Amino acid sequence: MRDASLVVVASRLPINDAAASEGVFEWRRSPGGLGEALHPVLINTPATWIGWAGKPGPTPPLPDVDGVHLIPVELTDSDVRDHYEGFANSTLWPLYHDAVEPAVHHRRWWEAYQRVNQRYADHTARVAAHGAVVWVQDYHLQLMPAMLRAQRPDLRIGFFLHVPFPPPELFMQLPRRTELLRGMLGADLIGFQRTQAVHNFHQLAAKVLDTTVDERGVQVDGRVVYTGAFPVSIDTAEMEALASHDEVVEKAAKLRADLGGPRRVILSVDRLDYTKGIEHRLKAYRELLADGRLKVPETVLVQVAIPSRERVEQYRLLRDRVEREVGRINGDFGRLGVAAVHYLSQVFDRTELAALYRAADVMAVTPLRDGMNLVAKEYVAARVDGCGALLLSEFAGAAAELTQAYLVNPHDVEGLKDTLVEALEADPTEPTAQMAAMRAHVRDHDIQAWARSYLTALEAACAGR
Ligand code: G6P
Repeated sequence: MRDASLVVVASRLPINDAAASEGVFEWRRSPGGLGEALHPVLINTPATWIGWAGKPGPTPPLPDVDGVHLIPVELTDSDVRDHYEGFANSTLWPLYHDAVEPAVHHRRWWEAYQRVNQRYADHTARVAAHGAVVWVQDYHLQLMPAMLRAQRPDLRIGFFLHVPFPPPELFMQLPRRTELLRGMLGADLIGFQRTQAVHNFHQLAAKVLDTTVDERGVQVDGRVVYTGAFPVSIDTAEMEALASHDEVVEKAAKLRADLGGPRRVILSVDRLDYTKGIEHRLKAYRELLADGRLKVPETVLVQVAIPSRERVEQYRLLRDRVEREVGRINGDFGRLGVAAVHYLSQVFDRTELAALYRAADVMAVTPLRDGMNLVAKEYVAARVDGCGALLLSEFAGAAAELTQAYLVNPHDVEGLKDTLVEALEADPTEPTAQMAAMRAHVRDHDIQAWARSYLTALEAACAGR
């Protein structure tokens, strides 16, 4: 069985739960998700992906999807509750995102986190060929690199963190901070989205583990663990091609007509997550309507909010608050047949998404903290006409690259309002130099370039061992 030469390990398999339960297996392509990011890198390569199929309990063997071999890891109900919803999404996720919601700590969650990481490591150790490249993804699996190295020192192990890596003051709160750092350091190369995250990691390794740190990375157990920033991206060419399709252009025109032919359309597409700044944005929009600076139906907001982690309390509460606020805005500022906010809590397919991007005059991406935010990059790629404005939070990883966007601090409601109005005042039919510069950037720095640069660095990191 040890024959896989490139193994991706991620919390989830990139398959659509709903489709899978009907026996139709398709790659899960939710906007900005990890499966979405890695799809173009892996399709039709002899890769193996190890992950959870999305439902508790046993999973039957799965067919290959888009040429990628899928190996399911089984999670029980208590694994899902304590590992996925607990330690990963109620302890690490909030802490890594500036603790915008308080991190919750339970000792039994740590037990589950260790147990589940060990299971992923065991599966990987069984299938990886001698000397194979194993690429471990994200915060759910931070212990796995060291667990895997203990069993299979022959492997070339990469770890990539898609979310922010927090400053030492926050990370130090974790009761298991030493183990978490040691787990990551089982890798040969640790990749982050931004250089700030690399600095944070270096500082912590020096402080908590008393290791030597230099520009290459961190020295541990007589080896160098290389570190670097590799900002993840999208399949730019694919989005450009899709957005250029006649069908998409027609759909975009129809969407605008269905919205009542407004002068300006604002669009937001987020997972329904408290890190995305949805409430701050709605507040800014409501105040602009109340102040009379924006008027319905001249301007409308389309908010796509994809349900996420629905059994985690903070997410349930957020959904209630967001939906109440949308109802309130529509109650106060809508009219019969005319909504102020068009709120869609559902998953969109790629074509519909591309049409939405093309229909929007201003794309508002205003997270309170975000590792990257691929929706921002997708919007830019979709604007093959060179038009449209991007309102982007300075706390999204994408802001380090898309510097020509209308950058905002989402906590500053007045600033958010003013900048949104400024973006709306630009002529939406006029191509801009800003959009051209951002488009050139995402074309040069696409997902293929990301994967190439990471995997080349991993090879270099392993060359001297
Ligand atoms: C973020 C994480 C990914 C995760 C995605 C969706 O982008 O970095 O690892 O897959 O959210 O979250 P979910 O909990 O549905 O897997």
